[in-house]
Amino acid sequence: MQVAYQVLRIISAGGFYSGESLAKQCKVTRARIWQAIELLREYGLEVHAVKGLGYSLLNEIELLDADTISSHFTQDSLFHVSQIEILNQTDSTNDYLKRSIPYLKPNHLCVAEGQVKGRGRMGRGWYSPLTKNIAMSFFCQSKLSVDNLAKLSLVVGCCVLRAIVDLIGEYPGLGLKWPNDIWYNGSKLCGILVETQQDKTSHDIKQVVIGIGLNTHKIRIPYEGKFISLEQITGTLVSRNQLVAMITNHLVSELPRFEIQGFSCVRETWDKYDLLTGHTVTVKQGTDILEGQCVGINDNGAILIKHNHMTKSYFSADVQVRPYAITS
Ligand code: BTN
Repeated sequence: MQVAYQVLRIISAGGFYSGESLAKQCKVTRARIWQAIELLREYGLEVHAVKGLGYSLLNEIELLDADTISSHFTQDSLFHVSQIEILNQTDSTNDYLKRSIPYLKPNHLCVAEGQVKGRGRMGRGWYSPLTKNIAMSFFCQSKLSVDNLAKLSLVVGCCVLRAIVDLIGEYPGLGLKWPNDIWYNGSKLCGILVETQQDKTSHDIKQVVIGIGLNTHKIRIPYEGKFISLEQITGTLVSRNQLVAMITNHLVSELPRFEIQGFSCVRETWDKYDLLTGHTVTVKQGTDILEGQCVGINDNGAILIKHNHMTKSYFSADVQVRPYAITS
């Protein structure tokens, strides 16, 4: 795969490259270049071969790049982010960071061109084809007590949503689906997986890995459910590097504020973009299934469901909405 990435880096600059020139630049045989091109095609990249001209990418690709990401950082992020690590392909950026925790400085950002075992909430998978979406994880330390766990997830969702709105502007129908999915007109745009390690004695949250999967390009997702991408919403391709930086900027500024100020730091954002309140939803928690009306969230970030004049709160659950219910 190494040669394939070398080739990808070269041809992503645009133009045509002969097998011979690629072989020379990568210091391998032409047969290895041919194999690398085949591999890139297997991973879904459209590599064109034109007789007499060579190889070229059918569509321009912006590869992830640490310098480009940091060029969009705020002063705060430039100061606080300890490292930007770009991976070509990994199992899961969350798993990669969790394995690396003993060697990481706080505020370590990891972004991958693709994941082969991307994970979602509730044991689900997350599809991350090469170069086609954002798969990022951010490692940070925390001083939060464990009862802040649910709210932390919500705060992260608000950070990502704000970054998206900063970049593409307001779109009616774009908002937050508890706990921290970002949806647009009934389809999922972004999923977030917050994983924490707790102190063995105090049970306080010690370390946090925030994983964010965001569909930037129009792709066919091989899972059940409705998904959408920023390309489909806006009609254009956004810069993945810029969006990664903008999300990081919001995390770097909001997470410390959350530690001091609590959920009020994002309450306004939550209330403005909350897609569920007032709608009929089905909540699944293990074998417990309840249909009721979402009446908001409580001060601990749990979703509140009203059923038969009783209100039940859930900290962790799978919430499904009637397909038409959260469209604009
Ligand atoms: C969900 O909606 O269930 C959460 C999806 C989270 C996906 C992201 S992609 C980056 C990070 N690495 C993973 O394996 N998962 C998260």
